Amino acid sequence: MDVALAPMEGLVDDIMRDILTRIGGIDLCVTEFVRVTHTLLPEKMFRRLAPELGQGSRTRAGTLLWVQLLGADPACLADNAARAASFGAAGLDLNFGCPAPTVNRHRGGAVLLDEPELLHRIVRSVRRALSSDVPLSAKMRLGLNDTSRALECAAAIEAGGAASLAVHGRTKSEGYRPPAHWDWIGRVREHVSIPVLANGDVWTLEDYRRIRAESGCDSVMIGRGLISAPDLAQRIAAWRCGQTVEPMSWQAFLPWLNEFFEQCRQRGGDTPYAAARLKQWLGLLKRQYGEAEVLFEQIRRERDATAIAAILLRMQACADPI
Ligand SMILES: Cc1cc2nc3c(=O)[nH]c(=O)nc-3n(C[C@H](O)[C@H](O)[C@H](O)COP(=O)(O)O)c2cc1C
Repeated sequence: MDVALAPMEGLVDDIMRDILTRIGGIDLCVTEFVRVTHTLLPEKMFRRLAPELGQGSRTRAGTLLWVQLLGADPACLADNAARAASFGAAGLDLNFGCPAPTVNRHRGGAVLLDEPELLHRIVRSVRRALSSDVPLSAKMRLGLNDTSRALECAAAIEAGGAASLAVHGRTKSEGYRPPAHWDWIGRVREHVSIPVLANGDVWTLEDYRRIRAESGCDSVMIGRGLISAPDLAQRIAAWRCGQTVEPMSWQAFLPWLNEFFEQCRQRGGDTPYAAARLKQWLGLLKRQYGEAEVLFEQIRRERDATAIAAILLRMQACADPI
């Protein structure tokens, strides 16, 4: 695997996965986390989070989708993992990196990085609940407040039976503050024998080359970089084949943005949902495209989806060559 799309709650849903994997270059997607407490989650919860389960756990472009679980109860996580697999999940992922206080308060996500023994029990319990053809991975940060237990955590995850490990190169207390410590991801990689996916702050093709060089990892997981430059994975794939592809122009990207908005409208009906999703995406696209800023300003106060659709179509018509 070369490039995985990082799970991002509230940002990467099935619509975003559909658009990004069709643009191309993404080898694997992971759902936003499903929070597991003490119950067996209802089927509709899994299907809402991962409608792709109904199409072989693949996006329309054919990219595999794994389901991510978050929790601290080994038995309950195992039961829910088996349930997700019974609905067709092609793989499971365990979240040991979420820094959100609401999640951490309930002993989920990054706080577990202070309890490597529990990490081990969770992974082992989930692994045992899955048949051998369903891969299990985990995603971790470097620690809670420092990196002192990073290697111990990675080893515990490996010993529990995870087949791969994505490492976001920051501690929980570092939040999303740059830089991500790519050298530390390399230390984790050297400490375990399972494949490690390097994650954190890959925004450009150059970042992709550097994170691989600094971490020694072959596989990279990219989150915000793929939202702000939706063709980044495609350019990476081309680069790996020795080709150079120019970054996608705003003009070429607009039909994708239009389609994203239309899919959101279909889901949200007359609610402000589609407008909110579009504004959210434009907020990250601004990093790559100056035009996204212009569009954002045009629709900033607009809540009516029909009016926004008209603005989008007008922009596309202006951008289309005559
Ligand atoms: C809005 C947002 C939501 C996220 N949700 C999740 C999540 O559900 N599960 C998870 O493991 N990581 C989650 N993350 C962390 C990302 O997967 C990733 O590790 C982080 O953004 C660093 O990678 P990047 O610099 O490529 O974005 C989230 C990050 C963001 C910004």
